[in-house]
Amino acid sequence: MADSFDLTVIGSGPGGYVCAIRAAQLGMKVAVVEKWPTLGGTCLNIGCIPSKALLHASELLEEATHGFQQLGIDVPRPQLNLGQMMVHKADTVAANVGGVDYLFKKNKITVFRGIGSIPAAGKVLVTPQSGAQQEISSKNIVIATGSVSASLPGIEIDEKQVVTSTGALSLEQVPSKLLVIGAGVIGLELGSVWQRLGAQVTVVEYLDRILPGMDSEVARQFQRMLQKQGMEFRLSSKVAGIDRDENGALKVRIEPAKGGDAEVLGADVALVAIGRKPYTDGLGLDLVGVALDERGRVRVDAHYKSSVDGIYAIGDVIAGPMLAHKAEDEGIAVAEILAGQAGHVNYGAIPAVVYTNPEVATVGKTEDELKAEGIDYKVGKFPFTANGRAKAMLATQGFVKILSDVNTDRVLGAHIIGKNAGEMIHELTVLMEFSGSSEDLARTTHAHPTLSEAIREAALMLGDGAIHI
Ligand code: FAD
Ligand code: NAI
Repeated sequence: MADSFDLTVIGSGPGGYVCAIRAAQLGMKVAVVEKWPTLGGTCLNIGCIPSKALLHASELLEEATHGFQQLGIDVPRPQLNLGQMMVHKADTVAANVGGVDYLFKKNKITVFRGIGSIPAAGKVLVTPQSGAQQEISSKNIVIATGSVSASLPGIEIDEKQVVTSTGALSLEQVPSKLLVIGAGVIGLELGSVWQRLGAQVTVVEYLDRILPGMDSEVARQFQRMLQKQGMEFRLSSKVAGIDRDENGALKVRIEPAKGGDAEVLGADVALVAIGRKPYTDGLGLDLVGVALDERGRVRVDAHYKSSVDGIYAIGDVIAGPMLAHKAEDEGIAVAEILAGQAGHVNYGAIPAVVYTNPEVATVGKTEDELKAEGIDYKVGKFPFTANGRAKAMLATQGFVKILSDVNTDRVLGAHIIGKNAGEMIHELTVLMEFSGSSEDLARTTHAHPTLSEAIREAALMLGDGAIHI
């Protein structure tokens, strides 16, 4: 007889594993089907977690090499031990995926290893790498199969020399020249890692700006900071093809985006980071009748239900920002909905962070969006050069920018470039979650001396004025 569950989740990334845990906490009998040997999906295995391990280690190397002397710390020039850095990355991944194993056991969640497909609503078929197929019967099914790197036509990925983020997280040596295709989050984060470790990095971007979707003033200033660090940019350009010379080095043909003469750039490694696409291969969605949208994402309603009753979808495989915390929150929301509660995600207050140095963090509307929507807004912008703690930390790059409604003073968006911006953004996220105003923020005592005081000063600028500028 088939195993029987209240909920079967296909995919154990941040969307799937969080959904499974919340559903179990709410009393459901839960199964998870995962085709990879470890749990945790893209984020824990080949995404957020390993990239942050390398970003942290490479940032410390950079600081020890260039930042210590001014602080009065004389050390011999630090040496890179790439092998050990990769061990740190692998240990970090292992600790995190092991954590999901532990949480699944604690919550009595059954894991099936293999490719999950949906022959009919209420049924999931598990096809393991070897051995017999297994059928699960399940009252509800959540598809949380995530996304994979998008590819460029005519460019073959070998994950050694022409790599996606997955290969770029595991290079065996530091390339002397790294060519990054795409000035998005992956390109800038992983480009930063290898640049700090010694590579000369050139980023080729199709658009005339970096980080599309982020506030354009923030993007412009951030590009200047990256250029100061030595990163080169070729904006409004596209890669027409990649060849190899007689020594095996890459010859990358670049063309102006609007067409024109090609030029050839040499590189040891090329990283293709032009976005990610939803992954639904092998699920058999066409047979069961689950509709996809024009970009191949599972179409869902406001309650994450697909076009078929009993089949739901969350995370990177549906519309919205491809972020781990967005997937997690949808996982919690759908579990609560299935338990008869009012699960909900506030898409207006989802923070996003680029974990470079300085970090870039954003929540809510950008100035570009407010202009396009015709909303009257005011800007409070406070630089870290005027913040005492930032001076003590030699971290005066960047600023806090808060956008509020001219008529109501409600905070509509916030954008930070600076050290620890990714931690600081949450004060603004909570404020926006509670529909707070800049005056609420300006009247809140902030400990001194902290980088967060720059947030309060930016809020004060929206009222009677900042104190320290
Ligand atoms: P995924 O994490 O992609 O998980 C999907 C899972 O489903 C996988 O384990 C897959 O094996 C499994 N699966 C697929 N099909 C089947 C099937 N038919 N049967 C069984 N199992 C199946 N986001 C952030 O918020 N912060 C970051 O710092 C960050 N850094 C990133 C860095 C990199 C290099 C990359 C690539 C991504 C990063 N992301 C980051 C994005 C983040 O990883 C994704 O948004 C997140 O993983 C999406 O979660 P998910 O649960 O929807 O899918
Ligand atoms: P992205 O969508 O962030 O950036 C892709 C970039 O490539 C864009 O600037 C785009 O204009 C450019 N591009 C597209 N086609 C091109 C071409 N043919 N030639 C040159 N440039 C081209 O995608 P990315 O960086 O691959 O990341 C994928 C997803 O992973 C993102 O949606 C992001 O949310 C998520 N992610 C999040 C991280 C974080 O939260 N810190 C870290 C890494 C990834």
